[in-house]
Amino acid sequence: MTPLDHHVLLVGFMGSGKSSVACELARRSGTRYIDLDERIAAAAGSSIPEIFAEEGESGFRDREAAALAGLATDRPSVVACGGGILGREENRRMLASLGTVVYLEVSAEESVRRCGSGSARPMLAERSAKEVAELLALREPMYAQVADVRIDTTGRSVDAVVDLVEAALARAVGQPGHDTPSRDTKENE
Ligand code: S3P
Repeated sequence: MTPLDHHVLLVGFMGSGKSSVACELARRSGTRYIDLDERIAAAAGSSIPEIFAEEGESGFRDREAAALAGLATDRPSVVACGGGILGREENRRMLASLGTVVYLEVSAEESVRRCGSGSARPMLAERSAKEVAELLALREPMYAQVADVRIDTTGRSVDAVVDLVEAALARAVGQPGHDTPSRDTKENE
């Protein structure tokens, strides 16, 4: 695969494999990999759980929105985004304008299984399995709204998911700044 000429942004619920898939896709294509949460933590000088503890979710979301906006001046990269980045409408608009958005789907049960105790993920901490499922259900239409490409990760290895992402990107009609059939469909529903 040749280096990408625009950003590819991976979105999806916690535990959907965004970081691993983005990292491998970047390696295969010789494109830079960016983990947005790592950028947020580096800019804050604190871990994600510390930011949540000290500034609350809204403080974290402000930092997340700023980090996302900062991508506009970055060279093309494969970007792993945090699972809640779509909560703000401005972020959904920004994602759509930045590049191709790949939605990695995972079930709530699989997310809980993959993430374990959730201690590194404040949004999973103290949530029952039912509450995790409710959070995913709340977010699912937003992931679908911005997705140019959707890949179901259930029962698939990172390599298998990256194979599918590569094939989908090769077919994708969506380019930065242009509406795609998937976005049109969702917006018209
Ligand atoms: C969050 C997901 C996390 C991180 C933060 C909030 C969320 O990223 O951004 O803990 O709201 O779903 P991952 O999806 O990479 O775990």
